Amino acid sequence: MTGPARIPVGIVGASGYGGAETARLLLGHPGFELVAATARRAAGKRLAEVHEFLEGTTELVVTDEVPESLARRVEALVFALPHGEAARLVPAALGANPGLRIVDLSGDFRLDDAGEWERAYGMPHPAPGLASRFVYGFPEANRAAVRAARCVANPGCFATAVVAALHPLACRGMLRGESVVFAVTGSSGSGVEPGAGTHHPERAADLRAYKVLEHQHVPEIERQLRESGAESASVSLVPHSGPFVRGIFATAAVLLDAPADPQALEGIFRDVYGGEPFVRIRRGTPRVGVVAGTNFADVAVHAKGRRAVVLCAIDNLGKGMASQAVQNLNLLFGLPETAGLLHPGTRP
Ligand SMILES: NC(=O)c1ccc[n+]([C@@H]2O[C@H](COP(=O)([O-])OP(=O)(O)OC[C@H]3O[C@@H](n4cnc5c(N)ncnc54)[C@H](OP(=O)(O)O)[C@@H]3O)[C@@H](O)[C@H]2O)c1
Repeated sequence: MTGPARIPVGIVGASGYGGAETARLLLGHPGFELVAATARRAAGKRLAEVHEFLEGTTELVVTDEVPESLARRVEALVFALPHGEAARLVPAALGANPGLRIVDLSGDFRLDDAGEWERAYGMPHPAPGLASRFVYGFPEANRAAVRAARCVANPGCFATAVVAALHPLACRGMLRGESVVFAVTGSSGSGVEPGAGTHHPERAADLRAYKVLEHQHVPEIERQLRESGAESASVSLVPHSGPFVRGIFATAAVLLDAPADPQALEGIFRDVYGGEPFVRIRRGTPRVGVVAGTNFADVAVHAKGRRAVVLCAIDNLGKGMASQAVQNLNLLFGLPETAGLLHPGTRP
């Protein structure tokens, strides 16, 4: 007995963490079939040899096929490449198949202004102008636009956590001044290549800040918050490297115009996110361990006088990357938004 045909999808950059997590989700998805996985150094190996946890679930072999050729035999490509690489490869893929759907996990198409992109990423944009064909894939704010799009720029991991925390305040015109955000990421945020910042002895018993006020996600966060309704959005982001593998925990502090009742403020968050399948309003504190392996963003809001603090926990590899990409793929193809994504977390 054969079921309905599933939509063929390929992953470009399948040997990294984003590629691995996207593969895990697509291999269990009812509507998509993972038919191609590419990488350079891993070409020729079975995908399950590259990512041992996939053993027993796929016989797919990693190839070095170029996206231009892949584009002719799939309906969608997920690009899971370091920034600058997707922008180099996407134009030929779209040229080969103008109907192709794309979700890009990198920062390459999140900013329309090539000058702003160059300041954020420290290199000239390889395909200036192409970002205008991409919709910013934070579905809780941009669902209709994603549904109507062909190409999605998946938000950054810090950006997802910060936007999830502040979007309700922006929607209600309550975000007017400076937001100060302290955010901690797990080591998988740095990708699969070992480095000084991810080496276990350096990281496991330590906590430190990096890119203070200079993180490349700030422009996309401020842009989305303005589009969500903030009169002005100014975000001081202080990222930290945390002693865990998966997860981002963001603490956003905002000074409101007037004192807020804590319950009323929480009510605003429940209203704005009412019906959202992947945002859970929590009491007290969210926990990165609770959202690990899921597409959930857990959000809690606190208020005292004019001070509001919003806490948000996501899995950087999940809602911060691969599962949000699958949420966007579902929307691009008119599938149920939760298809393949409503599984519970792994612990505790
Ligand atoms: N890690 C996170 O938490 C996270 C969250 C959100 C967004 N992102 C973004 O998502 C993207 C992927 O991140 P990641 O953590 O998965 O990176 P990663 O672990 O470093 O993986 C990237 C993979 O791309 C492959 N690659 C590079 N150039 C290629 C090419 N031309 N063709 C095919 N494969 C190529 C690399 O293998 P070869 O060099 O051997 O080909 C590498 O395994 C990055 O832009 C990152 O900023 C990451």
